[in-house]
Amino acid sequence: MYLRRMFPILIASVFMLVGTALAGGMDGKALYRENCRVCHDKGSPHKQYTPMSMTQAQWHTFFSTKLVPSHKNVIHPTTGKNLLESLSPEQMKAIQSFAVDHAADSEQPATCG
Ligand code: HEC
Repeated sequence: MYLRRMFPILIASVFMLVGTALAGGMDGKALYRENCRVCHDKGSPHKQYTPMSMTQAQWHTFFSTKLVPSHKNVIHPTTGKNLLESLSPEQMKAIQSFAVDHAADSEQPATCG
């Protein structure tokens, strides 16, 4: 039966997806939500920023030249810790990838839900 033959493939796909997520180790979207959207949600005094607020080039420029000067004194509103000091380089990379992958001119423009 069709379904029966498909089942192992389905299971394998699920494992592969989970594997990819774990291998990446970092969920850029979740990290963006927890560390960026907290201050850049709709109606925020710091302005709304979602991945599709900027182009890929603008995000690259932001992460390489603007993030540190504009956020060095930023305190995370829920943890009370310095934002930049509480994120590892890998976590920041994952956030950057998420923003770039879903930028305005990317193949899958997105807000972060
Ligand atoms: C405490 C809240 C806070 C958090 C958390 C925060 N920001 Fe900001 N962000 C600000 C403030 C304040 C500014 C400066 C706003 C202004 O210029 O009026 C800013 C500015 C920006 C700007 C536009 C200014 C520029 O430098 O180009 C972008 C884009 C941005 N933030 C993205 C992010 C991203 C991505 C993250 C997560 C890694 C993040 N922010 C986390 C408060 C925050």
